[in-house]
Amino acid sequence: MTPDRETWHCFGCGEHGDIFTFVMRRDGLDFREALERLAERAGVELSERTAREDRRRKRLREALEAAIAFYRQVLLEARQAERARTYLDERGFTSDTLERFGIGYALNNWEALTTRLRARGYTDQEMTEAGLASPSTRGGVYDRFRGRIIIPIRDPSGRPIGLGGRIMPGADGPKYLNSPATVLFDKSRTLFAIDLAKTSIRREKLAVIVEGYTDVMAAHQAGFTNVVASLGTALTAGQVELANRYADGVALAYDLDLAGEAATQRGLVEELQGVVSKVRVIRIPSGKDPDEFIRTDPEGWRSAVADAEELLPYFMRRAAGDVDMRQAQGRSAYTRRMLDLLRRIPDRVEQDSYVPELSRLAGIDERILRDELSRAPRPARARSAGNGQPPAEQVGPRLTPLEEEVLILLLLNPDLAGRLPADERLPLRDEVAQALGDAWRTAVRDAGGRPDLEAFVSTLDPASADLARSLLASARARGRRADAETDHESLRVTLVRLRVEEATDRLSDLQALLRASVEEADGADIRALERQFTELTREREQLVRTIRAPAEAAGGRRS
Ligand code: UTP
Ligand code: MN
Repeated sequence: MTPDRETWHCFGCGEHGDIFTFVMRRDGLDFREALERLAERAGVELSERTAREDRRRKRLREALEAAIAFYRQVLLEARQAERARTYLDERGFTSDTLERFGIGYALNNWEALTTRLRARGYTDQEMTEAGLASPSTRGGVYDRFRGRIIIPIRDPSGRPIGLGGRIMPGADGPKYLNSPATVLFDKSRTLFAIDLAKTSIRREKLAVIVEGYTDVMAAHQAGFTNVVASLGTALTAGQVELANRYADGVALAYDLDLAGEAATQRGLVEELQGVVSKVRVIRIPSGKDPDEFIRTDPEGWRSAVADAEELLPYFMRRAAGDVDMRQAQGRSAYTRRMLDLLRRIPDRVEQDSYVPELSRLAGIDERILRDELSRAPRPARARSAGNGQPPAEQVGPRLTPLEEEVLILLLLNPDLAGRLPADERLPLRDEVAQALGDAWRTAVRDAGGRPDLEAFVSTLDPASADLARSLLASARARGRRADAETDHESLRVTLVRLRVEEATDRLSDLQALLRASVEEADGADIRALERQFTELTREREQLVRTIRAPAEAAGGRRS
């Protein structure tokens, strides 16, 4: 048997054939048995692959756990961590709190962690894949986190998935540097401290979501242990779903001014399709973050949480405050804007439940509002993040977090978009996403540099333009900016992950087809399928290897 070609040749008897007849002869099977054997093997290959993936993830978690322990020890013992200890103390965190959250410190050093982990048997690839190290242009890797307070991020079972790193006061650089997206870490489906908070979330039937790590730590320290954070992203449906595994609703304690922006409101309502009514808003005295509010006025915090209002009525009331309803013009502009928000709720019953409140606020008859809602077209871009909406409800594109991440990275980094090989298809399943990605790459090439974003968007078809706007708005709302240090690697890894996903999907399709062919005992079919399966398995294997070996960059060459 020649494994690289799907043919065999027996040097003893001169017979030859394909993998199918090979199995029949080798194992002395009849036609039907050989079919079953092959289908079974296809299944086993898939589950072996899964087992291998599991082992790899376990290894990355162990690397993370070792790093967390190391950083923790440095914070507790190192002389160079004195300032970090003082800072945390001045911020009022007790040693109990620091212990509970596993807070550590990364020395201002390029190889403290990597040296340590290497000595423990972790490879450079593993450290990179775990998000702990970055590949150096001169080969090798260096510590990703330097001179930062380290905040471990864990999944609901308490297994480590990533790190947050806060800069020391006075130092240069972004305030927080987090782990990049890795196979373990998908921010859009993660809530910081969910492992510590889930029990009280269940007890109180409510998850309070704040923006910052330090807000969570202050809340827990003050005894409010149902508090989690959304990791610097705008709230995602995935995060609300995660919280609602334990609760029946979430309350947001976010920066109120941000929520006042029309684009942000639209983005949130779209993102939260299907869960909008489960989200409430906690009002925080302006200019304070929860951290400060909780410390100075725990009773005030307690009642603010109890008084949280539902998200949409909150938006409607808030926006109404800026409008003079006695003026027809202001009133109708306000109403149009609010109807636009309501139209983004696909569930008609839920949508209708907000009509009375809007009618009251705008002073416009409910029937007219309902009439408008049923007449007007649905917005072009209705999205959902796997919240059980039937696909028929979805008019526009439905992107996975990985697909969104690729487009955001490309839009923020024209130079990266320009460096992708021109003939290489982006692994985006969604057609609109694909069209947008292609248009952007062309625009970057044509401009020979950085095209004007506004001008670019205005050249797009409506669906792509809509998608581009909403991606940019959500990137802006999350404070995303191009990051020369990390974006290249993030793009590479995200592209490879998407390709692996594609291959995995096709493999399970093939497996199903193989099963069906076995049932129908269709020999010709199964041979063709088996060939495809073997080929695709090999392709996927190669892709997975590329995630580990950054040098063979899949998304453009490294600079
Ligand atoms: P904040 O700037 O409010 O930070 O960002 P904070 O946690 O309250 O920190 P302190 O109190 O100044 O120490 C809120 C959250 O947004 C994310 C982090 O998750 C942070 O906790 N963030 C912020 C980033 O990821 N990167 C940044 O550069 C800034
Ligand atoms: Mn803060």
